[in-house]
Amino acid sequence: MPQYLTLDDVDVSGLDVLVRSDLNVPMEDGVITDDFRIRAALPTLERLVDSGARVSVCSHLGRPEGPDPAFSLRPVADAMAGLTKKEVGFERGGQVTVLENTRFDPGETKNDPAMAARLAEGVGIFVQDAFGSVHRAHVSTVGVAELVKSVAGPLLVDELAALEHFLVDPKVPYVVVLGGAKVSDKLGVIENLLPKVDVMLIGGAMCFTILKAKGDEVGTSLVEDDQIEAVKRILDGPHSERLILPVDAIIANEFVEGAEHKETYIKEIPPGWMGLDVGRETNQLFASVIRTAETVFWNGPMGVFEWEPFRAGTEAIARAVAEATAFTAVGGGDSVAAVRSLGLESEISHVSTGGGAGLELLEGRELPGVKVLEQWAGGRSA
Ligand code: 3PG
Repeated sequence: MPQYLTLDDVDVSGLDVLVRSDLNVPMEDGVITDDFRIRAALPTLERLVDSGARVSVCSHLGRPEGPDPAFSLRPVADAMAGLTKKEVGFERGGQVTVLENTRFDPGETKNDPAMAARLAEGVGIFVQDAFGSVHRAHVSTVGVAELVKSVAGPLLVDELAALEHFLVDPKVPYVVVLGGAKVSDKLGVIENLLPKVDVMLIGGAMCFTILKAKGDEVGTSLVEDDQIEAVKRILDGPHSERLILPVDAIIANEFVEGAEHKETYIKEIPPGWMGLDVGRETNQLFASVIRTAETVFWNGPMGVFEWEPFRAGTEAIARAVAEATAFTAVGGGDSVAAVRSLGLESEISHVSTGGGAGLELLEGRELPGVKVLEQWAGGRSA
């Protein structure tokens, strides 16, 4: 039994409905580089309009410290207008009104009650549909849901259902593939997931901190020296044999797209060179593990995916996950972008709109933006 109400449990006709979507899309110079999250948010908004609701949608975008035009949701509203037949307005008007970035108000990330009261004003039903943000206890994920009758939106329900595969008796071998730049971002995930998985494959720049902690020379690769001790504790822990690290890398003599680059074994990285992608032997090794898995979760690029010379490792994982017969899920902006750019979306069991939220769910952590919905399932009235 789900512990939250859904849109099937409420009549929204004639009501002002506030939806929290995750419209935190990647942007470069004001241009949206991947609209996956906007596309994923739309069916819920359209369903609400068709049900006779007056719909407002709120979201954060990036991590602004306060109002900052570079982080305005206006381009997102424009992009949304181009993707739907419904009228979309920015800040006012339209069948769907996109509100400005919730993080322009410093109260958002502090879950400030005054901001929550402002956001909740006049709202009949709050729909939490921002799976990618429910690991945050902010005004737009928790505060407002405490004040207004709240339900889980269809996208959130779908995400939670798909990721159940990883929580309840995942079929074994259960393999998690992690990438990304910083080990400090993923240390908790590694620690909490290692006891649950059969194999964890780690690539991305974060592998160099782990390799250095193991005693390898990694040249000028990105290393977080302040994390070495914490990594050593994991390496000395009971499940460290489940970790598989790259054996080779594409290395470059400087951190620029056009840098001179070559392939080398990890053990042979020369001084002054840095690893910017995993190498071909690692691709084969990782693909062979993924091929025999029954459950696969992947989050994070294997290298500097934005730069063509350092893209192959991430693409190899995308292909291996797509070819796997396992139940597969991919989360995180770069990994999902890789899957989409290769046209492999339909070959993945579940392409998630969540990054950190999915990882926290798999770790077994409580998601505050989901937990807060429980009170309304118990019959509480606003
Ligand atoms: C994400 O991109 O993972 C979510 O939108 C959350 O963003 P945040 O890490 O800035 O809270």
